[in-house]
Amino acid sequence: MKKSLLLVIITIFAIFLTACGGSESKESSGESGGTKLDILSWWTAGGEADALNAVLKGFEEEHSDIKVENSAVAGGGGANSQAVLSTRLQGGDPPAVFQAQGGPDLLRWESAGYLEPLDDLYEENGWLDVYPEELIEMNSKDGKIYGLPMNVHRNNVIWYNEKVFDEYGIEPPETFDEFFEIAEKLEAEGITPLALGNKTQRWATLVFEAALLNEYSVEDMAELWTGEEDFDSPEMRSALETFSKMLDYTNDNHSALDWQDAAELVISGEAAMHIMGDWETGFFESKDLKPNEDYGWIQTPNSEDVFNVVNDSMGMPTELNNPEEAQQFVEYLGSEEAQKEFNELKGSIPARTDVDLADFGTYSQAAAEDFKDFKLSISLAGGSATSAGFISKVDDAVNEFVTQRNIDNFIKSLEDAKPLLDEEE
Ligand code: BGC
Repeated sequence: MKKSLLLVIITIFAIFLTACGGSESKESSGESGGTKLDILSWWTAGGEADALNAVLKGFEEEHSDIKVENSAVAGGGGANSQAVLSTRLQGGDPPAVFQAQGGPDLLRWESAGYLEPLDDLYEENGWLDVYPEELIEMNSKDGKIYGLPMNVHRNNVIWYNEKVFDEYGIEPPETFDEFFEIAEKLEAEGITPLALGNKTQRWATLVFEAALLNEYSVEDMAELWTGEEDFDSPEMRSALETFSKMLDYTNDNHSALDWQDAAELVISGEAAMHIMGDWETGFFESKDLKPNEDYGWIQTPNSEDVFNVVNDSMGMPTELNNPEEAQQFVEYLGSEEAQKEFNELKGSIPARTDVDLADFGTYSQAAAEDFKDFKLSISLAGGSATSAGFISKVDDAVNEFVTQRNIDNFIKSLEDAKPLLDEEE
């Protein structure tokens, strides 16, 4: 059956259920008579959850008649939340606003007919002047804008326990040779050199991307994800060898842990390093850890002048019961105030360019400077570099590699998935 026909049938069925009172929309009238909206995301850990709660509170303070419920779904690097989103959109029970990765990940919902254009909001609020053109472009299709960029995160960072490094006289590694030297030393002391939590597959892809950045220039990396570079190349094989060696120094229980569990290993000193996006600084700060005292960071080897960009953007579905109130919420999320509150706690830099960063943490202030100065590379693990379908195949291949370490199989899986690169979303 054609996908669109199937969607129509599911939608008619869902409308029928709703009419019969069989499903209750979260987006409805609140008990006190005010309006209730909800926001769907995967911001559930320390730092990211605080950031989300701060904007919910900020909005409700300005709009006492509208209640916004937090419908966040944990885990999966967004996969779980996206599955819920898909069911809710198809079932006629859309959240008022939802999180997506900017670009193909967001725009695939437009192709399925579920996204409301935000052009009027951009016009009315002067957002075209304060949001970077590249981020607006990333969330646009056929001349219309479908996403509100919330932030910019960086993925190519090694976070480390400063006290462990001090105790063993270790300097942060600038090359993979140094990384493996340190790893040997730490292992001999009974410390896990590299924390990994790949219960969510995406986090192994993020570590693999660090090995790729060691081999590929920003330009060549982009061509990998457009299909112009061969997957079978000396660079790819060398990256896989490096990745395999990195895996030798990780905790045995990695497949049972998520990113924040791996971060906890670094906090306790059980592990020394963790390669993760910079929501990690928000997590550390939510645990009262001090930058350059309790934890430090360095860019992953051979990417010292590269900013591996991750972007979260918000989408607003069609067919809402309370579209005006949902718009007011999106309007608030795009305000200078919300972008400040949110990103200050999250560890990201605001997507909006006119936010005063004076109160931001040490890491974020440095990240904002780096974002201006470094070469920008759209992160594959950040979900925006190419189609969602291809990235999901990479996740599968990387996680199979984590257990099998078979370079030929890995390359074959990517080659088999190549047609997905041509999908727009
Ligand atoms: C998102 C971040 C989030 C992280 C961990 C990433 O996919 O882009 O906003 O903090 O996942 O949940």
